[in-house]
Amino acid sequence: MLAATAMKRILCSLFKPAALAALAALLLLPTSCSAGVAPKTSVPGSTEALYHSLAMTPPMGWNSWNVFQGKIDEEKIRGIADAMVASGMRDAGYQYLVLDDGWMADQRDSAGNLVPDPARFPSGMKALADYIHSKGLKFGIYEDRGHSTCMKLPGSFQHEQQDMNLFAQWGVDYLKLDSCYAEINGRLSTADYAVYRDCIIKSGRPMILSLANYTDPSWAWGGDQIGHLWRTSYDIGPSMGSVYYCADTTAGDIVIHPAFNGLWQFAGPGRWNDPDMLEVGNLQSDRENRTHFALWCILAAPLMAGNDLRSMTDSTRDVLIAQEVIKIDQDPRGIQGYKVYDDGDHEVYSKPLSDGTTAVLLLNKGDNNADVTVSWNQIGLKGPQPVRDLWKRKDLGAYTDRFTARDLPQHDHRLLKIGTAGRELLPLPKPVAPAKYMVASHGKTYLSDLYYVWRSREAPRYNSNFEGRPLVIRGNPYARGLGFKGHGQAMFKLNGRAHRFHAVVGLDDASQGDDSCRFKVRNLDPIGPTSLLYDSGQMTREAAPKTVDVDVTGVDCLILECEGKKALGNWADAQVLTD
Ligand code: GLA
Repeated sequence: MLAATAMKRILCSLFKPAALAALAALLLLPTSCSAGVAPKTSVPGSTEALYHSLAMTPPMGWNSWNVFQGKIDEEKIRGIADAMVASGMRDAGYQYLVLDDGWMADQRDSAGNLVPDPARFPSGMKALADYIHSKGLKFGIYEDRGHSTCMKLPGSFQHEQQDMNLFAQWGVDYLKLDSCYAEINGRLSTADYAVYRDCIIKSGRPMILSLANYTDPSWAWGGDQIGHLWRTSYDIGPSMGSVYYCADTTAGDIVIHPAFNGLWQFAGPGRWNDPDMLEVGNLQSDRENRTHFALWCILAAPLMAGNDLRSMTDSTRDVLIAQEVIKIDQDPRGIQGYKVYDDGDHEVYSKPLSDGTTAVLLLNKGDNNADVTVSWNQIGLKGPQPVRDLWKRKDLGAYTDRFTARDLPQHDHRLLKIGTAGRELLPLPKPVAPAKYMVASHGKTYLSDLYYVWRSREAPRYNSNFEGRPLVIRGNPYARGLGFKGHGQAMFKLNGRAHRFHAVVGLDDASQGDDSCRFKVRNLDPIGPTSLLYDSGQMTREAAPKTVDVDVTGVDCLILECEGKKALGNWADAQVLTD
């Protein structure tokens, strides 16, 4: 049984449920990867099975938002479809042409159906979809699971099946489902997104479901059982600062505990971390465009172009259709590259590929020119290895135990393929074991004994106040707990195992001045009334500590929050109880 459970864990991390079900049937193993959101086992060839076999490599396409925001019309979009073909992008693998926010009229019709803006889309969506399909492309659309989209156009809340049926009728192949205003619709994200998955399947037309939930951690609550990709960052912008921030939401520790080394262990065929759409063509130089693109490819990120394809330069096009670079993103092994070195200015990423070689990215983010080196022992190789430069499409010869990119200017990089094809697959680093981040044991679990699976703003300190000194509230020291400063949130994976959460909250005695803090406990979602389980009210340094005792039966992911400006907010003794 132990072996079967371990095997199931490995399989769950590698396959979508449909593929998993087939494999599990062969091996006589249980198939459900996570409780609650898991779909039923699907019948081969059914819409459900097809749905779960979409996006086995990261989706590639174009989306209207980064370049046009809401200013879209059918003429522009047809022009983009034409340019996707003429530029060679379609043939390079870009399939999906996705209309983002702004395509709708501001009212539904008398039957409650969504209506495309009549002035800008006079021929209607079916005609546009037919045109896009006639070009050998696929059609994608944007909606929101709240009552309104972010542009305040009609959202799909309470029209879920009706809208999915309409999209199916129009021939939609890809749905980007946003989350503006969803925090007040009374459903947690996990249940809400599962409704749309089920409605899509019921519509009879499999569509890729892109979860646009900002930085909220779909990877932690079973988003991989629901959709095919999920956002890890706030909106990207046309600057390298923004590109690096978005990359680090998935490759760094901006949203997850540093022990994970980014989110690579949560991605794989059919389930992708999405650091947002591309700004290639919108940045300052070809060098920046290339570095942004190479970063997305090493991270196995979805490649949704976001520039005006009708007027792009030849050099921008050459970045977007660079075959050897795209192949790294689309490698069927589906490993998200991870950092093997990061000193703040210089980074080295590794992405083991399906042919036994490794893609390596050497990056200089710093202000000065620099040499950046990868050593074979950082990427699991030994002895002389052939090295190929993927932008230059040139073999550089064999190197003994390292490769150095000399004198890289700021924002420049080298993208290499190292090793001989045909050898056995290179091993991956050890993923963080579930016991380190999920409540599993019986009895009592201190949250400070688990890695958080998501955080917002400042990361909490473990078993100390935020300044690294012992946790003390009104003279009482606490050996265990979490120390926040100012405004912060951290999510812990209870996995539905616990029934009670206990803690003592209050400002640390080292807090200065008259700042105050409000302590909240939330179920899964970082904002909104639906997820709120406890609210301490405003507490000052003089306030007596409060004992928190909350029923957390069935809670998958628990968020501890401190809402203050500079106060040192302590969750002392934070613990959950299991049966
Ligand atoms: C949010 C999303 C963006 C875009 C806009 C549309 O900000 O994150 O990608 O879809 O909404 O309004």
